[in-house]
Amino acid sequence: MTVRDAFDAVPRRLFLPEVIWVRQEDGWAVPLRRGDAPEQWEQACAADDTVITQVDDGAATDRGLWATSSSSAPGLMARMLEELRVVRGSRVLEIGTGTGYNAALLAHLTGADNITTVEIDDGIAAQARQALDQAGYPVEVVTGDGALGHPKNAPYDRVIATAAVHEVPYAWVEQTRPGGLILVPWALTVHPEAPFALLEVREDGTAEGRFVAASGFMTLRAQRVSQEDIRHADEAWAQAGRPEIARHGVTVTPAGQTVWLDSPANPVSYGLTR
Ligand SMILES: C[S@@+](CC[C@H](N)C(=O)[O-])C[C@H]1O[C@@H](n2cnc3c(N)ncnc32)[C@H](O)[C@@H]1O
Repeated sequence: MTVRDAFDAVPRRLFLPEVIWVRQEDGWAVPLRRGDAPEQWEQACAADDTVITQVDDGAATDRGLWATSSSSAPGLMARMLEELRVVRGSRVLEIGTGTGYNAALLAHLTGADNITTVEIDDGIAAQARQALDQAGYPVEVVTGDGALGHPKNAPYDRVIATAAVHEVPYAWVEQTRPGGLILVPWALTVHPEAPFALLEVREDGTAEGRFVAASGFMTLRAQRVSQEDIRHADEAWAQAGRPEIARHGVTVTPAGQTVWLDSPANPVSYGLTR
C-alpha cells in the first residue's frame, strides 16, 4: 500500500464542507457556497492547493482575515505522508483533524483502528467525525487540545501535526515509542519557508531530527506568533547567512528544545520566540 494508493482511494471532496472560503486580491477571504457555485467548488477540490474551511476561529460570516482551519494542499500532504513512513498496523496520532481528509488517508494506509486524531474546535471535530464515518473510516476523533496529545491511546509509532508549532510539546515525545517518528511543521520562526521537521524518539526520552522541506501551516491555537516575532526571526536568520532548510535541526528534551544549525552542538539564536 503506497501513499499514492491512498490518494487514489480517498476522494478529497467527501471531506470538504458545503461552504469553503476563497482569498480575494484585497486579502479578505469570502465564502463560496457549493449550492451557488458548484463548478468553482469542484475546481477548488480538484486543485493542488489549500482549501480554507474556517476563518477567524469561526466568527466570520461574510468575510474573514485569518484562515483557522483548512484542507492542506494534497501535494504537500503526500510529501509529509511519504516522510512519515506509515505501514499497515502503525499506530498514529494526528494533531489537527480539520476536515478529516488526512486522517482518512492515514486510516487507508494503516487501518482506521490505529488512528487517533485531535481537534480543538468542537464544531470542526463533529463535521470531521461525520465525514470520516460516512467515508468508511471510523477513526477516533478526540475534541481537545492536541498539545496534550492523547495519552489514553499511547504509545504511538508516529505523531503527525497538521498545525505548526514554534515549540514541540513534550507530551508528543512522551507518547511516542522509542524509534518512533514525529513529523511537525514549524511556524515562521526558524526559516521563512516554514519547513516541517522529522524527529526520531530515543530510548532516553529525547527526540531529535532535521528540518526537511517547506510547508506553511496555521499554528496550534496556543502557539500563534506575532508579525513582530516573525520579523525578528527573519532578521536573525538573514544575519546567520540565510542557511538552507536542511541545515537546521531540533532536539527536544523534558527540559525544553534547542534549534541548531548543522549539529546539535551549534544552537542558533533564532527559532525560539518566547
Ligand atoms: C491545517 S488544519 C488541519 C488539516 C487537516 N489535517 C485536514 O486533513 O483537513 C489545522 C487544524 O488544527 C486545528 N488546531 C489548532 N490548534 C489546535 C490544537 N491546539 N489542538 C488540536 N487542533 C488544533 C485547527 O482548528 C485546524 O482545524
